[in-house]
Formats: sequence, structure tokens, C-alpha cells
Amino acid sequence: MARRRSPSALKIRNLSVEIAGKKVLDGVDLEVLRGEIHVLFGPNGSGKTSLMMSILGFPSYRILSGEILLNGTDITNMSINERVKLGIGIAFQSSPTIRGVKLGDVLRHLAGSKIDGAKMAGAVNLDAEFLNRDLNVGFSGGELRRSEVLQVLVQRPSFAIFDEPDSGVDVENLEVVGGAINNLLKKRSGLLITHQGYILRYVEADKAHVMLNGRIVCSGIPTKILSQIMKRGYKWCEKCPKARRPH
Ligand SMILES: Nc1ncnc2c1ncn2[C@@H]1O[C@H](COP(=O)(O)OP(=O)(O)OP(=O)(O)O)[C@@H](O)[C@H]1O
Ligand SMILES: [Mg+2]
Repeated sequence: MARRRSPSALKIRNLSVEIAGKKVLDGVDLEVLRGEIHVLFGPNGSGKTSLMMSILGFPSYRILSGEILLNGTDITNMSINERVKLGIGIAFQSSPTIRGVKLGDVLRHLAGSKIDGAKMAGAVNLDAEFLNRDLNVGFSGGELRRSEVLQVLVQRPSFAIFDEPDSGVDVENLEVVGGAINNLLKKRSGLLITHQGYILRYVEADKAHVMLNGRIVCSGIPTKILSQIMKRGYKWCEKCPKARRPH
């Protein structure tokens, strides 16, 4: 008997986007089914963060063509607020610092209800004292990453995107952060952007994609694609005979 296919959590069709007059996404197609975790690899400047910003709906990322659907709803022209309400949560690569706004207040706002802030902070190995610190001000590189991940954990979005959550995180904290992301995404869907892929030891990803020059050129099994990139670099992806076909 044929297995029933899960519905789409995120579906992107032929998405082209420009920022400041520069085309950063060029006909991106991507589908993440409900319950799946996908990984996005790609060299610096290939358009990974731009894709994430376009999914969230930052107005400076101007959509030239294509559409973005979240759980079947067309969100292409929605505001950031509307998209967040529909269940998109993002851990940013470049975290904003805001003086006068405590991390604990941000977490309470994101949770929309009473939370045990200290317990939640503990899930990413941050001491409770961080809750009383101004948002990301003076946080070390690894603390910033964990603060970003914590904000998504508290928000509990139906679709979570993590932009390099492992960058600058030490080995012990990588296990903690990876475990927390995996727990969150077990019953949800998400997209994980990573360069080195160390976090994949802790996050059970279903599928990986390689982005080059604003296009997804190759998709397949995460460990297989990562090992090829590590062995042969992104040059391999440019020449990949199976480009745009599953590995
Ligand atoms: N505001 C902007 N003005 C001009 N160019 C921009 C702007 N924002 C992004 N870009 C360009 O868009 C391209 C894609 O950038 P993006 O941040 O999406 O890359 P990335 O794949 O996330 O790279 P990295 O791995 O370094 O994080 C880059 O060439 C970048 O310089
Ligand atoms: Mg980036």
C-alpha cells in the first residue's frame, strides 16, 4: 500500500529576490514536509541568510517572482508580524543588541504566557543571571548563539529556522544546543543553516540542500552531502552530475 505523504510545512516555488538592487535568490524551489528537518549548506554569500530573511518577510528583501507557502497558506505578501503569528520562528545569524530591554522580558513576550525563565535558560546552558541582562549586550559569541536559540525554544513556532546556531559554540555547549533544537523540532518542522555540520551529530536531519549563487543546486542525504563538501569543497556541487536531482 502506498504511504501517505505528509502535508507541506514550507513550500517555496520559483523564488527570486533582490536586495539593494542585487539579485540574491534566483528561482529557489524548496519543500519541507511537516515533521521534517532540512539542512542548508552553501559558501559565504551564496544566499542562505537571504532566503531566511525572505521567508520571515523583511521588506528590504524585494520579491521579484515566486511564492512562499506556510502550512498551505500563501504568506508571500504578509508582514513579519503576520508570519510570526502563523508560526515562523527564527534564530538569527547576526543577533540584535538592545539596551534597556532584558532578555527575560523578551522571553516572556515571545512565550505569550508565564514561563520558568531560569529553567528555559538552563536548556541552553545559560545561567539565570542572563535573564536580567540587556538583550545580547556584552554576550560572548557562543552566548549570543545560545540566546538566539533560547528565544526560538520559548516561542515554540511550528516552523523554526536556525541560521548557523553552531557558529562559535564550544563542544559541550554544541551538544546542549543541538539537543535542544532536536527536542524542539521532534514534533515540528524546520530549516537549519550550518557550515561545518557538527550540530548534525545531535540534530536528526531528513534532507540537505546546497545553495550556490542564490540557487539550490543539489539535494539529498545530509551526511552524504556534508562528507562530499568536506572532501571536495563546493566545487564538487557546481559540477555535480546529479545537480537538482536527489542523491
Ligand atoms: N543590504 C545588502 N546590500 C547589498 N548586498 C547585500 C545586502 N545584504 C546581503 N547582500 C549580499 O547578498 C549576498 C548573499 O548574502 P547572504 O547573507 O544571504 O549570504 P549567506 O549565504 O548567508 O553567507 P554566510 O555563509 O557568509 O552567512 C551576499 O553577496 C551579500 O553581500
Ligand atoms: Mg548567512
